[in-house]
Amino acid sequence: MRILVGITGGIAAYKAVGVVRQLVEAGHDVKVIPTANALRFVGAATLEAISKNAVDPDLYTDVADVKHVELGQSADLIIVAPATASFIARTAAGLGDDLLSSSILASKAPVLVAPAMHTEMWENPSTAANVATLRARGINVLEPAVGRLTGEDSGKGRMPEPEAIVEAALNLFVPQDLTHIRVLITAGGTREPIDSVRFIGNNSSGLMGLALYKAAKSRGADVQLVAANLQRGLTEGQVDVSTTEELRETLNNQVAGTDVLIMAAAISDYRVETPSAAKLKKADLGSTPVLNLVENPDLLAEIGAKRASGRPITLIGFAAETLAGDDLVASARKKLEAKKVDLIVANDVTGGAVFGSDATAIKLVSANEDLSFAGSKLEAANAIIDWIVTARK
Ligand code: CTP
Repeated sequence: MRILVGITGGIAAYKAVGVVRQLVEAGHDVKVIPTANALRFVGAATLEAISKNAVDPDLYTDVADVKHVELGQSADLIIVAPATASFIARTAAGLGDDLLSSSILASKAPVLVAPAMHTEMWENPSTAANVATLRARGINVLEPAVGRLTGEDSGKGRMPEPEAIVEAALNLFVPQDLTHIRVLITAGGTREPIDSVRFIGNNSSGLMGLALYKAAKSRGADVQLVAANLQRGLTEGQVDVSTTEELRETLNNQVAGTDVLIMAAAISDYRVETPSAAKLKKADLGSTPVLNLVENPDLLAEIGAKRASGRPITLIGFAAETLAGDDLVASARKKLEAKKVDLIVANDVTGGAVFGSDATAIKLVSANEDLSFAGSKLEAANAIIDWIVTARK
């Protein structure tokens, strides 16, 4: 994509370098237009080196190229980060008195604005009215983050982090085909305690579940994540569980009203019958201790069985197997039928390489087809969501 990044004059201008870098690394052609005041905070040489494009915000150079129109017309996306209160006011008024503002006026591309200013300035009725004007005109204005501001003070007004800005900007191009759909995703792996310090667990990293959360959210879904022992989860908005019993209780509380349930969590089929409240000692256990296991309920099959009586929920299970090809598909189809679900996402985990990795190869096995997909976990998550969207039509 051809992306214009406007930078206006606030202390967060130095962080805009991170936005430019991420976009360039993702393969986009980025042209940076700093305002005159932005150049007091960050140098044109830095912006040229990072964007790999010339930076010349002067309206009156290369006039024959009519660059104030050309830049706006040729852009696929415009991001302004940071956006000061003054920039927001000038844009709301329709001013075109520098290269950035005239490029925005000359463009039909989507515009994303990441404000950064002190809380008082953000909350000022003038700014609030100007932001409302921009939003009413279809400009996407992010909410500022809450945190440390320029001085010792903190509050609402921080520029959102570069990753969040880039993600929000690129999401403007993602189809919003899951709006008003409630998606419940389980991720990670359950742990069954043996004693107060040990447990039976598994290798699931939860990365696939997190990728599904990200993909579903970017496509407009109302998503809830149930995280079983994730090392790196979301910063907010997830329900944490550890054992299968806790996961079951959370699912039972959440599943009503859910349109799609994706069970990406690896759930222990067994638990220790009577875990010890204290740490077990080797001296007491001897050299061949035996753990008595009892079977856990199959949570997906329980929900699948209830659905048979008519609940319109799309159910997706996962199956990590040490099988390949037709055997993998046959095993997935058996689970599909036994658990009464719509899709089993199966993968061959022979050798364990897929755990914790960003790459995966999956088979989407439904009643009448099996599709293969290989790519990053985020791409795989989007392929699963494509399947769900088609199935729900
Ligand atoms: N699952 C579940 N409850 C369990 C075990 C599994 O809900 N007690 C779900 C998993 O979250 C996954 C799907 O069922 O979505 C398949 O899990 P898997 O462990 O592959 O299936 P099992 O039926 O336990 O078969 P296996 O004998 O291969 O372990």
